[in-house]
Amino acid sequence: MYASFKSIGAYIPETIRSNQWFVDRMDTSDEWITKRTGISERRIASDSQNTSDLGVEAAKIAIKRADINKEEIDLILCATITPDYLCMPSTACIIADKLEIKNVMSLDISAACTGFVYAVSVAKAFIESGMKKNVLIIGAEKLSTIVDYTDRTTCMLFGDGAGAAILSATQNKDEAVLDVQCSSDGSLQDLLMTPGIQSEEASFMQMKGNETFKVAVRTLTNDVKVIMENNNMSNDDIDLFIPHQANYRIIKAVGDNLKFKDEQKVLTVHKYGNTSSASIPMAINDCYESGRLKTGDMMLLDAFGGGLTWGSALIKFAGK
Ligand code: UT7
Repeated sequence: MYASFKSIGAYIPETIRSNQWFVDRMDTSDEWITKRTGISERRIASDSQNTSDLGVEAAKIAIKRADINKEEIDLILCATITPDYLCMPSTACIIADKLEIKNVMSLDISAACTGFVYAVSVAKAFIESGMKKNVLIIGAEKLSTIVDYTDRTTCMLFGDGAGAAILSATQNKDEAVLDVQCSSDGSLQDLLMTPGIQSEEASFMQMKGNETFKVAVRTLTNDVKVIMENNNMSNDDIDLFIPHQANYRIIKAVGDNLKFKDEQKVLTVHKYGNTSSASIPMAINDCYESGRLKTGDMMLLDAFGGGLTWGSALIKFAGK
């Protein structure tokens, strides 16, 4: 049994927050933000929307595009670092309830910006083992709730949004997810964290931006080299290189290191900012809706985030 990546969907919140919003509130400039991050604007969810609401909207589209009945879904994975509730219930359980899917195994994955790639890995394993047949995976974030808007070095980076996909069992090897590799190094935990619970401070995100930047470039580059080598693949075998959208300068440095052509690189950071676990599925959805992603295309996902965590995936798009 193989796992095939059948569909993609995303929810992009309506409210656009431009760089000017930050210029009006802190000592920064549009020029600095654009030059140092490549970000012009990001989306912000409304006060009444929780992470699960964003995830549900993305999931509905992914389910429709996969052409399956929601009753056929037997596992729901939600990657998020901004769950609706602290500790419990999981956001995946809430999403299952809002989608009216009963009696389904549902759980959250906490792997920060690598969350969606981790979810692909878990879904693939469950399908290949024969335990599950149709897995709904979601990356959803309302990062605006954990961003410290007094910290000018990090607050302009992040946005809200969600992406979702259906992975289904198939016996056709030609449409299988080829490979996923995920890893972590907890000794670098202090580069990116929300120390709230332990320090009794408000649970805002803290990031050592400059150090994180360097580790990100190194890890994202190495990740791709390893997965490509393990699968005897060259750049010509890749249709779309879809890295985590954290900062244009990181994507450019990694893309240049790996010698991908501009037409292979996918960029959404300018309009969505960094949406953590939602960034890769939102980018895949952008490619799908613009006609850039077609059936049979080989996608190379490359993610990095708090934990530290990282992961990459070689995925043939099996959707229509
Ligand atoms: O998704 C998880 C992974 N996260 C990331 O990958 C993020 C990685 N880090 C980054 O993207 C970048 O490090 C930042 C965009 C956060 C910062 O860019 P940088 O080039 O690393 O800048 P820096 O922190 O070294 O700061 C350079 C200067 C400093 O001034 P001095 O000391 O040179 O006088 C900062 O005080 O820029 C100043 N600065 C700002 N100036 C205007 C920092 N933030 C701002 C700001 N506006 N918002």
